[in-house]
Amino acid sequence: MENKEEVLILAIESSCDETAAAVVKNGREVLSNVIYSQIDLHTLYGGVVPEIASRKHIEKINQVVEKALSDAKVSLEQVSAVAVTCGPGLVGALLVGVSAAKAIAFAAGKPLVGVHHIEGHICANYIENRELEPPFLCLVVSGGHSHLVMVKGYGEYEILGRTRDDAAGEAFDKVARAIGLGYPGGPKVDRISREGNPDAVFFPRAKIGGSDYDFSFSGLKSAVLNYVNGCKMKGEPVNQADVAASFQKAVVDVLTEHSIHAAVEYKVDKLALAGGVASNSHLRDAMREACGRHGIAFYHPSPVFCTDNAAMIGVAGYYEFQKGVRHGWELNAVPNLRLGERMDGR
Ligand code: KG4
Ligand code: ZN
Repeated sequence: MENKEEVLILAIESSCDETAAAVVKNGREVLSNVIYSQIDLHTLYGGVVPEIASRKHIEKINQVVEKALSDAKVSLEQVSAVAVTCGPGLVGALLVGVSAAKAIAFAAGKPLVGVHHIEGHICANYIENRELEPPFLCLVVSGGHSHLVMVKGYGEYEILGRTRDDAAGEAFDKVARAIGLGYPGGPKVDRISREGNPDAVFFPRAKIGGSDYDFSFSGLKSAVLNYVNGCKMKGEPVNQADVAASFQKAVVDVLTEHSIHAAVEYKVDKLALAGGVASNSHLRDAMREACGRHGIAFYHPSPVFCTDNAAMIGVAGYYEFQKGVRHGWELNAVPNLRLGERMDGR
């Protein structure tokens, strides 16, 4: 580890319900990726309880960081910089990671780099696709975000479309709850849909006036809830697999159609998926097929790099670090941070 060329980033992520730390070498090689998931804890409440998330992050953060360094066989002295998610996310949860990163960086005399969570999700694609370089189009679909982003360069983004209401993952979670699948909904809908008929129930695909690339999922969610309530009132059983598969098809159709439309309009030949919903098998299959028809190369991270993790923050942090980005001790958690916004308040 004496090689002067090596850039080792210690990365921390705590924006929602995963306490995570990782060590990433030269931007693309993940030396360790430790994730403590709080899912079991929040399942009891049917969703993430912010206060519980913050407390659990405090309990776990030191252990997770220590494990990330020891798994990577890297000492803190060897680290080039400490990168941390500083927004968007739950403010109390973010603050734990930001405070830990500042303390570690200060104590070890290392530079501090604040990272945008969505930038992290996008950069997850660089881990297993070493040849992938900007420009490319990226569909970011997670529990909190649905964005269609043009990645113009490292750290250079243009948002072409976004959701007007619910995020795609949020719709998965709410529909799963409505049909009795429980939390977290995405993976459960994905799994049960394989046994269902996607054409059993027709749910609407929202058309948004004024923007070709914006999304809306709240109407679809309401349509599913109305359908389920209608069944209950008529005393008819709800076929979970059919409803899940039909809902999933509606979401996937819209996401695929918008992404391909944008890729064709903007003449890009590379399209990537990112965020928790990017691990949805039906979405991947539909995107792969549509990209194939249009001669577009298709990329997506493995599921472990789709949902929240710190390796993706290490990759994004590397490119920011290489550009000369350094944050001061005033770095704060910004719950509604926009992509491309400065994080130092200047
Ligand atoms: O990226 P992520 O871990 O957290 C946020 O930044 O929001 O995404 C979590 C979201 C949840 O809504 C979860 O239900 C969804 O991703 N998700 C899925 C799948 N796996 C996770 N949605 C659909 N299909 C999946 N296989
Ligand atoms: Zn996320």
